[in-house]
Amino acid sequence: MTLRVQYSSLINQGAYAFVFAVSSDIAVKVFKSDMIRASNDDQKDLPASRYQLSCEERVMRALRTNDVSVPEPHGIRAVTLEFPTRTMTAPGLLMERIHGQTIYSLGRNPEDERLFDYATALWNTELVKARRICDIEDAHDENALYDARKGKVYLLDFIGWTIRKEFRLPRKCVSPDVVDITSGHVSTVGSVAYDARFNK
Ligand SMILES: Nc1ncnc2c1ncn2[C@@H]1O[C@H](COP(=O)(O)OP(=O)(O)OP(=O)(O)O)[C@@H](O)[C@H]1O
Ligand SMILES: [Mg+2]
Repeated sequence: MTLRVQYSSLINQGAYAFVFAVSSDIAVKVFKSDMIRASNDDQKDLPASRYQLSCEERVMRALRTNDVSVPEPHGIRAVTLEFPTRTMTAPGLLMERIHGQTIYSLGRNPEDERLFDYATALWNTELVKARRICDIEDAHDENALYDARKGKVYLLDFIGWTIRKEFRLPRKCVSPDVVDITSGHVSTVGSVAYDARFNK
């Protein structure tokens, strides 16, 4: 069964992807190119994007394992997007939903200058930690969210990042389909096959 998402639950978009809310805790990322290709509830196999999303998920797991602040990934699932006039299905990367503002949007509000400086300092700290683990790409100010409630910055969007050899998790440690989502909540995380102590 695919996960059904209404277009009205769009959180934000970048150049390549839409990110939708699945629930208050979960978001899903879908590539725009897939949405153009897929049509009319076609269960198209889109292996290229599934592969790209699974690479992104691997990077997220490697970063989290090494204490970099990124949303927790919850696997890849077929997502059916319901637009008012049509419906389409594409692979989606499920992840923890972050309630925050991008560094870019903080920078646009002159009244928030101190907050912007504070969040930028947190962002830079995460980037320094991330660079130890990965070769990073495209780390611009919309690829980081500041959550005021937690006082944390989360890095986002890891397409094109590569994990340095010594931090790669073994393949069996990444199980993209372990999450069972019922009514928008992560209800079961099956064999949580990766071990946080690995590589330490
Ligand atoms: N886990 C999340 N929780 C809440 N919002 C998110 C989450 N992931 C992404 N977003 C929002 O969606 C936007 C687009 O996501 P993302 O950067 O992954 O897409 P993209 O199209 O690959 O971006 P780019 O244009 O940088 O390539 C982000 O800037 C952010 O505002
Ligand atoms: Mg982005």
